Parts: sequence; structure tokens; C-alpha cells
Amino acid sequence: MQFGYFDDHNREYVITRPDTPLPWINYLGCQAYFGIISNTAGGYSFYRDARLRRITRYRYNNAPFDVGGRYIYVRDDETGDYWSPSWQPTQSGLESYACRHGMGYTTIGAARRGIAASTRYFVPLDENLEIWQFAVTNRRLTPAAVSVFSAVEFCLWDAQDDASNFQRNFSIGEVEMEDGVIYHKTEYRERRDHFAWFACSAETAGFDTQRDVFLGHARGWDRPAAVERGKSFDSVAHGWAPIGSHHVRLVLPPGETRQIIFVLGYHENPPDRKFDPPDSQIVNKETVKPVIAKYLVPENVDGAFGRLRDYWDGLLGICQVATPDIHTDRMVNVWNAYQCMATFNMSRSASFYESGIGRGLGFRDSNQDLLGFVHMIPERARERILDLAATQLPSGGAYHQYQPLTKKGNNDVGSNFNDDPHWLILGVAAYLKETGDWSILAEPAQYDNQPGSEQPLYEHLQRSFQYTLDRLGPHGLPLIGRADWNDCLNLNCFSDTPGQSFQTTTNKDGTVAESIFIGGLFVLAAKELAAIARHSGHAGDAPDYEAAAAKMEETVRRHGWDGEWFLRAYGDFGNKVGSKECAEGKIFIEPQGFCVLAGIGLQDGLARRALDSVRKLLATPHGIVLQQPAYSRYYLHLGEISSYPPGYKENAGIFCHNNPWVMIAEAMAGNGDAAHDYYSRINPSAREGISDVHRCEPYVYAQMIAGRDAPTHGEAKNSWLTGTAAWNYYAITQWILGIRPAYDGLQVAPVIPERWTGFRAVRQFRGVTYRITVRREGPGNRMALAVDGRPVEGDVIPAPSGGRAEVVVEATLA
Ligand code: BGC
Ligand code: NOJ
Repeated sequence: MQFGYFDDHNREYVITRPDTPLPWINYLGCQAYFGIISNTAGGYSFYRDARLRRITRYRYNNAPFDVGGRYIYVRDDETGDYWSPSWQPTQSGLESYACRHGMGYTTIGAARRGIAASTRYFVPLDENLEIWQFAVTNRRLTPAAVSVFSAVEFCLWDAQDDASNFQRNFSIGEVEMEDGVIYHKTEYRERRDHFAWFACSAETAGFDTQRDVFLGHARGWDRPAAVERGKSFDSVAHGWAPIGSHHVRLVLPPGETRQIIFVLGYHENPPDRKFDPPDSQIVNKETVKPVIAKYLVPENVDGAFGRLRDYWDGLLGICQVATPDIHTDRMVNVWNAYQCMATFNMSRSASFYESGIGRGLGFRDSNQDLLGFVHMIPERARERILDLAATQLPSGGAYHQYQPLTKKGNNDVGSNFNDDPHWLILGVAAYLKETGDWSILAEPAQYDNQPGSEQPLYEHLQRSFQYTLDRLGPHGLPLIGRADWNDCLNLNCFSDTPGQSFQTTTNKDGTVAESIFIGGLFVLAAKELAAIARHSGHAGDAPDYEAAAAKMEETVRRHGWDGEWFLRAYGDFGNKVGSKECAEGKIFIEPQGFCVLAGIGLQDGLARRALDSVRKLLATPHGIVLQQPAYSRYYLHLGEISSYPPGYKENAGIFCHNNPWVMIAEAMAGNGDAAHDYYSRINPSAREGISDVHRCEPYVYAQMIAGRDAPTHGEAKNSWLTGTAAWNYYAITQWILGIRPAYDGLQVAPVIPERWTGFRAVRQFRGVTYRITVRREGPGNRMALAVDGRPVEGDVIPAPSGGRAEVVVEATLA
């Protein structure tokens, strides 16, 4: 069952009914001002940091699910009938409804009783504001008298405090009204130098800024008193809950359309120029007024929208493909790349599953996300890498997360996850391969954000590498620490107290439990570091890295092979985890994928056996589950993984993030059919037809799909902000389609399904456009490459000579 369709040409997903199984959302903004918006206009906005600068209020996990948003009410002033063109919050019957989620914008429109209304929501580039471009049309044969009401509820800035500190917050709300513009200025009187504003292009008949006056006694957003009676109360908020609502009255002749622009913005004033007059408490509006005036003009708004379109065309144009599979094309060309940008902007902070107050930018997550966006925004990737490096600890270890506003690491979700440091090496490797910008290695970065501790980025990578060598366990494998990639495999935690955080509790000294996954990760990272060293004037260091990689590989083979697959870990008692000897959790996906990615076992058949075990024991029609058999009870010595009911999350859910590791491993083993088959099982577009089962958006990946042990097998959760986005993008573009940035040029090494006749791609890389055609002439992966008509050896295309901007690449597979 479907709830809409892909409009591939316009790069939109069109939702044709409001009752999607869950709110299906989109993101607004791509620089500093952001919002999330559902298909029924739910969501909220913030400036830079979803916790510390929340502009509008949203209540998570509510009933109904999605309450609080960017609402508009349309009222027929003759009959008193009122409704919302986004269906919520009035939930009125509609004659038509469509939500178009596009690249950085969402348009929601509907019609009722001969009146059609629609709103295009977007954030212009380089501005800290959002536009609601609203249009209403009278399709009746008679004139229509219509009232339009806007509504947002302001958040008192710190979203955490806003949701808890009511003894203070009910007394501090303040607003100002001037020329029909509503200014929200809570705490501006004291230490804040920022305020929000909400403006309207039409002449207003009234306004409201106090929520409970606008809504009326004991009412919700579905039937505000002001809308019902057809007249605002002109309320001014003092304390309680400040909102912004305009009332506009229109008379529309038959067939006529009128546009109203609502603009919600964020603005900062210099601390010494906050007030006007200076000794007053009135907001100084000198610098905000021109901004407001500009965006109340339709031509300026249309221009800003055009620039936003161009921006996305530019980003997505960097890699475009045409394959025999529409789901591959759609995800690669549009939605997967778009989702990668969302993970760049949001990390794991704000979605409909991430409340914006829990997690900031993760060290591990942000480095992996780079794989998906570095080709689109290399300069910002560079900045991100240096920011991350500056939070690294002198030991080489890492805080698990940092706050986007302060860029400082914090211990809120722990540290000593012993895999963390290696992702920095892999992130930097991805950046170097894409850009060839070796200068980044010399860039100084602090440790733990301490002034004076600056060292070149290369030195940070060395400390990442050394971190593991300083922490080897009884078998010579890396100690796991708090956990590795699998945050829930807590082998030193032993938590028996309700409410204790699995992420910060440690009851064991951590000198025994080891991770085979980190072993594989270390081998891969050490090999990359060796290649980086050889390319950057540190060739003398390379043999050490290579020797350490070889030694770890040997250790993994000796102590990390279980007979038919790679073991997962050794626990605190030296017990095996992820072994045939275990009653539950006999085989885990992570080491099978990652050890092969590191090249372990590709020569001697171990990799094949591990991947065959994955196919036999872990693969389901909905994707590959994380482990089997699921843990049926809580195990003190395993931690959070066994806290989840079987089939969910890390306890044998389909954790989509690591499915691509197996896709890549299959591609490395030369098996394009298996790689693409796994790709298709979790590709959201390929699952569109079972949207009633999948339930999350069919245009973006979700973190998890319930595994075969769950009663809801096939149901997705936690869409949008997940490493799944970057890893799938990387797996399909670089390993299956095989268009892979390498240190010395662009590598072309496709491992595609046997039935594919070939594909075409356009890839911009280091300032050159590569037009690539791959043709299949035989069933295998043996490739012959011609560049500009001349056959070349190998599969890496060096930069073209003579400053040529375009290169034609032809590959034949046999
Ligand atoms: C989740 C993990 C997550 C961790 C850290 C756990 O509850 O299951 O997926 O990484 O929390 O926030
Ligand atoms: C989600 C976290 O963001 C990520 O860092 C972690 O690797 C996975 N969960 C697996 O636990």
C-alpha cells in the first residue's frame, strides 16, 4: 500500500493523503536556521542548536502524535466553517490534499467547499528565517469572504528547560507588537541578545500572542476560540505561553487567488545595541526591519526560492546515475544524497525520533556521515573534520558527542568508546580521496578544545592509531571500553539499577573485554593511515602502521575466527560473544562486514564463509538482522543489547547502518548480485509499495527495521538521522557502481548485478566532469577501461592533463 508517489522530475515526494502511518517529514534550512516539518505541517524551528536555540515549541510523543507546528486556519466568514489546508490541526474533511516534500521545501495544500489553499514553506539561503508562502483561491462561482489565521507557539529558547522549569517559565514570556509584526523577546531583558519575529505581508485585522486566549478555555489547536468566532483577541502575552497569530480578512471574487506571505525569523543584536531607545526595554529593530521588509515582497520570495532550487541542483548534480533500476537512481540522484545532507546538518540531534535535547554531534557518527556528503560540500567537511579533531582527547580517545553551538565535547553520553578514534582516520581518508587537499594534515587542531594544545591533524590521526595499541587485551585484540560501534554491547557495564545509563555506567575495570569489530576497524584504519603517510611526506611512518595492521589481522584470524564466521567479542570473564558456543547471540553482522571491508579473509576463503553464514543465518526479506538468535532475556554481562525485546534495535533488529558493510563486502568478493540484492531489501523506494508495513517515509532510510523475532517484522523506526544514509550512499555509488575517489585519481571498478546491461554516470571530481558509461559484455567483473577513447591500464583514472574539464570514460565488463 502507498500513501503517495515519487515525482522524480521535480525531485519531490508527493503524499496524497494526510493519514500516513507516521508523520512523514522533511527538513527546512541548510546553514544555520533549521526546521522539521511533517506532511501535516507539524514540527518546529531552531537556530543552529535544537536544544539551546529552539524557536518554536513542539511536544514530542503526544496524542495525537504530531502536535505543534506551522499552522494556518482558513475560515469561511459567511458560514463560520473553518479548516486547515494542512489537515492538522482541525482534521476537517478535505476535497483534495497533497503534501510535496522537495529539496529544502515543503508545499502542503488542500481544498474544501470550493476554497483551495496551499502553503510553500522554505528557508532562504543565507537568512535566519522561514517563509510560508500562502495562496488561497476561490473556486466558487460567487465571491467568498475568508479569514486567514496563522499560528506558531514560541519556545522559551532552551528546549530542555522549556519543557520542565514551569515555576519560572510561566512568568517570563514577553512579546512586543509593532506594525503587525509579533516580536518574541522572552529573556531579552537580561542575558539574551536574540529574539524571534513573525510577520505577515497582508494588512492584519488582529493578532494574538497569548496561547490560552487564542485557543480559549480548555481547547486545543483543533478549535481555537479566535478562529471559531472569526476575530482575534489582540492578546498580549505576559508570562504563560507566548504565541504568534495574525488574522487577515479577504474578499475573493470568483476564480481569484491571493497570496499572503508569513515570515518567521530569528535575529541577534549586538549586546550594546539591544534597546531603542537605549535606556528602554524596547527591542532595537533597526537591523531587522529591512530583512522583514525584503521578505514580505513576493518577487523577493520567488527569487529566494529560485536560488534554493539552484543550490540543490548544484549539490545533486555532482553525482548523477542512470541505471536499469529506478530505485537505485532515485536514491542516488536525489533522496539518499539529500538525506546525507540532513545528517550533516543535524547529526543525530533533531528529528521526529531525536528530540533535539538528547544528542548533539556524535564523534563516531559525524565522521561516518562524511562518507555521504564530502563530495557535495568539501569545504564544510574540512571544517567539520577540524572541529571534531579539536574535541579529541590527548589520549587519542574522544568524547562521544559535542554541542553544535559551542563545538565543545561533553560527557553526557559518555566517552571511552574504543572504536571512536578510528572513525577520524576514515573520515579524513574520505576527505583526502575526494579532494586531494593534503594541506589539511598540517592544519593545527587543539586537544579537548584546550588553547595551547594545538597539533597538526596528522598527529591526531597518529594518536587515534596509538590509542588502540595502548589498549590491547589478553588476546592482543582491542579492548572494547564502554562499547564499540554497537553502543549497546556493554561488556563492562554490569548495570542492575533501573535508570542507570548504559552509556555512562562502568562497573568493571575494562581490562579483559575485547572487540573483534574494533580489530577489523583498526586494520582498515591502519592501512588507510599508511596510505595517507606515503602520500604526504610521512612515508617513514608507513611501515609501522602496516606492520600493526598485519599483526592485528593475524590476531583476528587466530582469536577472532569462530569456524564459520568472525567472533564478535570476548566478555569480561573471557567468555565468547557471537560464537557457535553461545546459546543466544551466536553470530553478529558487524565483524562479518567490517573484517571483510578491512580485507581480512578475501584471499583464503574466510570472507566467503563469513558472508555465506550471514546469508544463511542473518538475512531476511526486509534486510539483514544484527544478530541471531535474539537475546530472550536481560544479561547483566551484555548490557543494553539484551534490554531490548527480541527483534528491536540492537537486539536482532535490522540495523540498516551496517547492512551496507555486507553489501560492500559482497562487492569486494566480486558478488554484484548479492550486493545489490541486499541493497534493494532496505532501499526505501523499493519498499514504497509496502508502506503500510514499513510505515516510515519511503524516501529516506530509517535506522532500524524490526527483525524477524519481532511481531512487527518489517516495520521501520527512527528515520532520517542515521549512519545508514552515508553508508548506503557509499556502498551503492563507490562499491556497487564502483565510482570511487582514490588518493591518486578517480577509480572505476563496478561490481553490478549480472542481469544489468550496464549504466551511465556523471561524476564531478576535483574540478573535472567524468562522463562514465559502463557496458556489460559478459557476466563477470573483468573490466577494460578507455579514457577519451584510449585504453588505460588498471582502474584508476589520473587527473587529466592540460586543464581539461571533461573526461569520457568507457568501461566494459566481461
Ligand atoms: C540506542 C543506540 C544509541 C545509544 C546512544 C541506545 O539506546 O539503542 O542505538 O546509539 O542509545 O545514544
Ligand atoms: C546509533 C548511534 O548513533 C551510533 O553511533 C551507533 O553506532 C549505533 N546506534 C549502534 O549502536
